Amino acid sequence: MHSPHNHRDMYRERRRAVRRPGAAVIAAALTWVGLVGVQSAAFADNAQFYANSFDKKPNAAAMTALGRALFFDVSLSASGKMACATCHDPRRAFGPPNDLPVQRGGSDGRSNGARAVPSLMYMQNIPSFTEHYFDNDGNDSIDQGPAGGRTWDGRSQSAHDQARLPLFSPLEMANDGIDAVLAKVRRAGYAAQFRETFGDTVFDDMDLAFKAVLMALETFQQSPQEFYPYSSKYDAWLRREASLSGDELRGLATFNDPAKGNCARCHPSGMRKGAFPQFTDFGYAAVAVPRNADIPANANHSYYDLGLCGPLRTDLVAKKDYCGLFRTPSLRNVATRRVFFHNGVLHRLEDAVRFYAERDTQPQKWYSRGASGATVKFDDLPLQYQGNVDTQAPFDRHTGDSPALTETDIKDILAFLNTLTDGYKQRHQQVTKTAAVSDAQPGILN
Ligand code: HEC
Ligand code: HEC
Repeated sequence: MHSPHNHRDMYRERRRAVRRPGAAVIAAALTWVGLVGVQSAAFADNAQFYANSFDKKPNAAAMTALGRALFFDVSLSASGKMACATCHDPRRAFGPPNDLPVQRGGSDGRSNGARAVPSLMYMQNIPSFTEHYFDNDGNDSIDQGPAGGRTWDGRSQSAHDQARLPLFSPLEMANDGIDAVLAKVRRAGYAAQFRETFGDTVFDDMDLAFKAVLMALETFQQSPQEFYPYSSKYDAWLRREASLSGDELRGLATFNDPAKGNCARCHPSGMRKGAFPQFTDFGYAAVAVPRNADIPANANHSYYDLGLCGPLRTDLVAKKDYCGLFRTPSLRNVATRRVFFHNGVLHRLEDAVRFYAERDTQPQKWYSRGASGATVKFDDLPLQYQGNVDTQAPFDRHTGDSPALTETDIKDILAFLNTLTDGYKQRHQQVTKTAAVSDAQPGILN
C-alpha cells in the first residue's frame, strides 16, 4: 500500500497549500495559419502537424466554416445518422444532448460508449498530457503530478488527434478508414469550399486531405465565440459589469473556502495574471464516484474504468497509483448538463455537489450494497487502489461526522454554479457598466 509520503500525497499537499490558480495562458506559437489567439502547449509538440503542406495557405475563417460543416455532417458516420454534434450538442455546451450516461453509436447506431460525453468548451488552454506538471506561471518548480491531455484520461493529445477517435471508433462514427471518410467529404455540399480553402489538389493525396479534415475540425473548435466566449454572469461580474446575488456570492465563498467546499483546490475560480479562470487545474484526481449500473460495460462485474491506468488508456497500466484518477473537468456551463462525472452516474447538479459533502459522512446514500448488505464504499474502485482516493477537504470526514457542506451551502454553491453558464447578456439585457457592482472585489478570491 501507499506510504503517507508517496509522491501522490505530495501532490495533494501541494494542492492544498497553494490552491492552484488557473490556466497558464500560453501565447500562440503557431502563426502561419493565423489560428485564433490563445493556444495550448499541445501545439508546440504538434509543430509538424501544422507545418503547411497544402497548395494553398488555408485561412482560419475558411477553416472554421468548413470545420463547422464537418462537425454537423451526419453523413460522415457509417450509419449516416451521427455527427460530432449528435453527441456534442451545441445547445448544451457541446456536451451530451440528453440524460443518457453514455451515448449510442456505431454502424447500426446501437453500440454503447463507455463514458459520459464531455463538454468541448474551454479546452483551448489544456496542456499536452504530462506525468509531471510544473505550473511555471506560479514561479514554482514543484511537480504537481499528471495533468492535461484530451478525454477523461488524457490519452489524446490534441483536438485533431481526438477527432480521429470518434471517426473510426466502432462505437461511434464507425468509419472503416480515412478513404471512407474522404469519399463522404468529396460528395458533401462543402467539397468545393474544401478545394477552395486547401487548394484544388487537396483530394489527390489522401493523407493530406484527411489532415485538412482534422485541421478544419480543430480550428472550428477553437473559435472563441462558440467555444470560449467568457460570456457568463460570473465573467460579467469579474469584469464589473454585473453583480452577483447574495446566494451566488455566498456560494462562491463556500466553493473557495478550504474548510468547506474547497472546490477551487481543483476547480480554480479566480483571475490570474489577467486570465479568466477555467474552473479546472487540468490535473487528475480520484474522487471515487459510485459505479453506474446503467452503463452496459458495467454489466461485466470485473470491468472497471480506472481512468489514467486503463483500460481505455494503455500506456500507464503499470502505474498503479494512477488507478481511479480522471481529469478534472471545467465547471463552466456545468448547469447545462444532465449527466455528471465520467460515468454519468448522477443526473442532477445538486446531487453532484451533495456527493462531495456526503461521500464520507453518509456513504450508504451513494454506494451500492454487497452480498452481506453492507455498503461498499468506493464501489467502482478495487480495494487495492483505494489508497489513491482523495481524502482532503471536503473529503476529510468519516461516517457519521457532520458534512463539510450544509444544505444551505449546497444550495448556495448551486446558485453560484448557475452563474457559469455562457450567454448571460443575451438572457439578461439589464447589464450596466457601472451600477450595482458588488462590494466583494473580483479577482482576489482564490
Ligand atoms: C457517440 C458519441 C460521440 C461522437 C459521435 C463524438 N464524440 Fe467526442 N467524445 C465522446 C465521448 C464519450 C468522449 C470522452 C471519451 C473518453 O473520455 O474516453 C469524447 C471526447 C471528445 C473530445 C475530448 C474532450 C475533452 O474533454 O478532452 C473531443 C475534442 C471530441 N470528443 C471531439 C469530437 C469530434 C470532433 C467529433 C466528430 C468527429 C466527436 N467528438 C464525435 C463522444 C462522442
Ligand atoms: C481533488 C480535486 C477536486 C475537488 C476538491 C473537487 N473536484 Fe469536482 N471534480 C474533480 C474530478 C477529478 C472530477 C471528475 C471525476 C470523475 O468523473 O470521476 C470532478 C467533477 C466534478 C463535477 C462533474 C462535472 C461534469 O462535467 O461531469 C462537478 C459538478 C464538480 N466536480 C463540482 C465540484 C464541487 C462543487 C466541488 C467542491 C464541493 C468540487 N467539485 C471539488 C476534482 C475535484
